[in-house]
Amino acid sequence: MDQSTRTRVAIIFGGVSSEHDVSCLTAGSVARAIDPERFEVVGIGITPSGRWVQVATADLLALDVADNALPRLDETRPDAVLIRGDGNGGGRIATLDDERLAEARDFDVAFALLHGPFGEDGTIQGLFEMMGIRYVGAGVAASAIGMDKDLMKHELRAAGLAVCPWVALDRHTWAADRAGLLLRMEADLAFPVYVKPARGGSSIGISRAETPAHLPAAIEEALRYDAKVIVEEGFVGAREIEVAVLDVLDGAPRTSLAGEIVVRTEDAFYDYAAKYLPEGQVDLVVPAPISDALLARVQKTGARTFRAMGAEGLSRVDLFVTPDEEIYVNELNTMPGFTHLSMYPMLWDASGLRYPDLIAELIELALTRPMGLR
Ligand SMILES: Nc1ncnc2c1ncn2[C@@H]1O[C@H](COP(=O)(O)OP(=O)(O)O)[C@@H](O)[C@H]1O
Ligand SMILES: [Mg+2]
Repeated sequence: MDQSTRTRVAIIFGGVSSEHDVSCLTAGSVARAIDPERFEVVGIGITPSGRWVQVATADLLALDVADNALPRLDETRPDAVLIRGDGNGGGRIATLDDERLAEARDFDVAFALLHGPFGEDGTIQGLFEMMGIRYVGAGVAASAIGMDKDLMKHELRAAGLAVCPWVALDRHTWAADRAGLLLRMEADLAFPVYVKPARGGSSIGISRAETPAHLPAAIEEALRYDAKVIVEEGFVGAREIEVAVLDVLDGAPRTSLAGEIVVRTEDAFYDYAAKYLPEGQVDLVVPAPISDALLARVQKTGARTFRAMGAEGLSRVDLFVTPDEEIYVNELNTMPGFTHLSMYPMLWDASGLRYPDLIAELIELALTRPMGLR
């Protein structure tokens, strides 16, 4: 195919959240897998300090695990600025060279491979909306609500989906009425409980409190990452089942086969080390060994969750399935882990949609959906 007819995709990655490194890994993985016949990649990095920079394709392709460490963007590149494109949904990135803009590159669509706050949470989606730039994935509200484990539970419960009992607090209510909150948690929640930063990800700042005595330290720890925290009832003996959802314009969303997170150590959960370090004590089982009947209910719950949240493009829906096969929604991730070894792409691969085709389909969805309020 002719160079000029390729779709130019801005891969935006890195970011200021604690998931910066994971995002860099994802960017390399997508850049290596994307079909070069159909797509041209424009690399846009956001450094840990929040500066936007252009990243050459060769550097993008090289982002990978090295010496057992995840890749990071350094701060050496000059600042770049995002500019509105041709008015047809495209954008432009240019580097600030002294007082002038240089190396301006146009792109047709943005694919933000950012996880966590300031990326997965509606902030960059708002920037794209303001600039009239097409982008992959969920819009502003769904991204913001999906990032906030308290707001998400409210919305899911309102839609009739089962979620576990929880109590939310913020640093003001915690400072003002610590004793009252602790009493309420003891009364309303069965232990163990999970204490989580409300707007976190990758299990960072999450701990399990076995008894009420463990709560204050766990809450203080979560408050280090977010001014808002949720404390939720822990499932004991439930399976962690996940399903990938892929949008269909004007139709019911597609759902994949299910996957299962199996934690090998007794007292562990799916924490950061388990998620990203090679010696992590976790297996991702794809497809999950479940009955066809349970799979059908898992898929239905995944699709319902996706639509209830007003998600678009892609989401991974994470569920707890109790020993008597009741299904609870844990969370919906609007930008799930997206390396070729992540659950979301693996679920689609097992369901017959290969990683490069999945990437192409997501870009196609972003190019064909209406702009503005949808
Ligand atoms: N209510 C719960 N009961 C049992 N395990 C939980 C519960 N909440 C979280 N976990 C464990 O902690 C992990 C991370 O929690 P999660 O809410 O998914 O946070 P994150 O958004 O960081 O992935 C889950 O994958 C699971 O292993
Ligand atoms: Mg999770």
